[in-house]
Amino acid sequence: MERSVVVGILGLGTVGSGVIQIVNDHQQELMHQVGRPISIGKVLVKDKEKPRTVLIDKEKLTEEPADILHNPDIDVVIEVMGGVQEARDYILQALKNKKHVVTANKDLMALYGAELLKVAADNSCDLFFEASVAGGIPIIRGLTEGLASDRITQMMGIVNGTTNYILTKMDQEGRDYAEVLKEAQELGFAESDPTSDVEGLDAARKMAILATLGFSTDVALEDVVVRGITTVTTEDMEYCRQLGYVLKLIGLAKRQEGRIEITVQPMLLPDNHPLASVDNEYNAVYVYGEAIGETMFYGPGAGSLPTATAIVSDLITVVKNLVLGVNGRSISTPLFAKELKSDEEVEAKYFLRLHVKDETGTFKALTSLFAQEDVSFEKLLQWPLEEEQPAAEVVIITHTTSRAVYERIYNALENMDVVIDIKSTYRVEGGHQ
Ligand SMILES: NC(=O)c1ccc[n+]([C@@H]2O[C@H](COP(=O)([O-])OP(=O)(O)OC[C@H]3O[C@@H](n4cnc5c(N)ncnc54)[C@H](OP(=O)(O)O)[C@@H]3O)[C@@H](O)[C@H]2O)c1
Repeated sequence: MERSVVVGILGLGTVGSGVIQIVNDHQQELMHQVGRPISIGKVLVKDKEKPRTVLIDKEKLTEEPADILHNPDIDVVIEVMGGVQEARDYILQALKNKKHVVTANKDLMALYGAELLKVAADNSCDLFFEASVAGGIPIIRGLTEGLASDRITQMMGIVNGTTNYILTKMDQEGRDYAEVLKEAQELGFAESDPTSDVEGLDAARKMAILATLGFSTDVALEDVVVRGITTVTTEDMEYCRQLGYVLKLIGLAKRQEGRIEITVQPMLLPDNHPLASVDNEYNAVYVYGEAIGETMFYGPGAGSLPTATAIVSDLITVVKNLVLGVNGRSISTPLFAKELKSDEEVEAKYFLRLHVKDETGTFKALTSLFAQEDVSFEKLLQWPLEEEQPAAEVVIITHTTSRAVYERIYNALENMDVVIDIKSTYRVEGGHQ
């Protein structure tokens, strides 16, 4: 029998434990796929004495990175320790020592993906990162292999389970943001410091990775326009429902005539959109290709075994490449130079909720401001408010306009005498063009 492929794992937390469980439990399937046994060589942890939930020979645990990175017996390194600088340093060492690498680390890939892929190619090594976006959903392989022959023009993703869980509970149970966030933290769906999730940064990292691959261009994290969910209210969600929409945190990447935009923000989607029914901690990525039209990838975006499934599938590809002697041959250089859309070119509809003075002339003032900018209303609702002075709540959905024009309107509204308060505004999406 051929020598087994030996794997070193950096990290034995939620994901690392899942990887060991799948490698142990699926030996027969792995052998069938790759024709060679796969074994775990060493596992790096911070604390060897900590109790572990997964069955692992204690002799295999190490607190010394060199036991993996400089170990001549180890063929493949799986990085599931998280963090950025140490993880980058260890992966660079592994690649320079001709070890193939599989990682689940989106923070690292969003910041240093281009550099790491180049070092991997220079050393004829594979570097795969399926688990870094949407956990168990095979979206990266879906884009780079399944849809490789198409020209992708749009990707819309619910790629952060924590925020999707919070927004689902707010929408379905009418509970406010702070209360649901606390519950999510108690249930382990949200971190004790939830900033990266609720401010949209985690989703932005994943969208930068998806846009880089889907559009074959070098998208950086700074190219993503980001807004989180901390100001979303249940009132906004109720109005959205009344108008036939659902409010979701959406990562959107669009390409038109070679020019792209990438953003993460709470958006209104029509309630019959495929993403509108993706609830709780689930993830989904909707992809539109010129030839294929609409497709959607849906599933668990995190968790020990779902994420480990993606990692072990990457490991299978590495071993198949080893058997064929073609490691490090995946194309990693982008085909197109990056051209970002300007504010004049980014077009969308907008939802706007205002409190205005309920007096003669208010509507004339509002409509003439929008008319001056050539923006008409698709929907407009108004209710009287019970306040000391006569006031009304107005909800508008505009027709399509540019971000530049909408910002001018928004700034003018802030200074308008008849406007008491701008309660909220969101982008409205839904079509594929
Ligand atoms: N959790 C998910 O569902 C999920 C989904 C997709 C992607 N990911 C990504 O997968 C990675 C791992 O996530 P996780 O949830 O498994 O993390 P985790 O539960 O916190 O586990 C991290 C592991 O790495 C070890 N570790 C961390 N820093 C280390 C260091 N400097 N030296 C040695 N060992 C170190 C820890 O050792 P000790 O056990 O000794 O403390 C622990 O075993 C992250 O990049 C994350 O973004 C996670």
